[in-house]
Amino acid sequence: MAHIPVLLEEVIAAVPPTVQRMIDCTLGDAGHSQALLEHFPNVELLGLDADPQAVTMAEEVLKRFGKRAHVVHGNFADVLTFARNAQFAPVDFILADLGWSSTQFAERGRGFSFDAPQESLDMRFNPQEGETAADFLNCAHEIKIGDVLRRFGEEKQWREIARAMVKQREHKPFTTVQDLLDTVESVKKRTGRLHPATLVFQALRIQVNHEFERLEQFLKQAPDIVTPGGRLAVISFHSLEDRTVKEVMSSQSAIVKLMTKKPIKPSAQEIKSNPRSRSALMRTFEKI
Ligand SMILES: C[S@@+](CC[C@H](N)C(=O)[O-])C[C@H]1O[C@@H](n2cnc3c(N)ncnc32)[C@H](O)[C@@H]1O
Repeated sequence: MAHIPVLLEEVIAAVPPTVQRMIDCTLGDAGHSQALLEHFPNVELLGLDADPQAVTMAEEVLKRFGKRAHVVHGNFADVLTFARNAQFAPVDFILADLGWSSTQFAERGRGFSFDAPQESLDMRFNPQEGETAADFLNCAHEIKIGDVLRRFGEEKQWREIARAMVKQREHKPFTTVQDLLDTVESVKKRTGRLHPATLVFQALRIQVNHEFERLEQFLKQAPDIVTPGGRLAVISFHSLEDRTVKEVMSSQSAIVKLMTKKPIKPSAQEIKSNPRSRSALMRTFEKI
């Protein structure tokens, strides 16, 4: 399943017209990167992704741009180091399109989706680093699990689900997505369109990838490598992410200004052709 870049026209419109260098912090399938390199024929781009498979794929896709595209495996929490090591600072535009790509979700076998119950319960963007979702559920204290479900999933039944998880692992440790589904569904029944495990999946993915800490580190470093008049665009997919973007960037209002008061959302037409875009929210900031 190919990943369709979201808010593509809006991302291109957010780039300052005098752009020379830019960083795509979340290459994914390089959809945004390709379009940006095509649209701005004199631009050089540095692309990062935490997922080594995404990096290999992006390298292949961006080969046709020759020396204009530089691809690095890494976490955007270290964007300053990557930019400086590649002698790629300052830049005029930085893009971060948060979360996962459709290919990661559907093809990498990392347990991101409840539609693939046989997959191992991993959920890491970078399978070379940190603990898997299964490790977390098998080792963490019930209070910690409950806290993750409550804070990162805003899951109302966090207490009962955390209790059921701890009870479950005493009989059989978590290894697959099916183990997680069985436990969540023993507590929570499907009501409406949302799968009962949706918020639990979101919470576990945020936990194992330290998504909010990494996002905060990135947002604090990014203004340091942007030229005055240069811009940063961040696309989030849920309100917790968007809140982090808003809060961290408003704490830096002496050096960056928000370009639009309200986040930019996809058009009805984009949502129709790419339903995954429906929750996208883009905020753009300009370096003062
Ligand atoms: C929504 S996808 C990006 C899709 C891309 N814009 C495109 O058009 O193909 C998000 C990507 O960000 C990566 N990612 C998530 N957190 C990251 C982090 N902290 N550092 C670097 N990459 C990260 C994921 O591995 C995934 O490939």
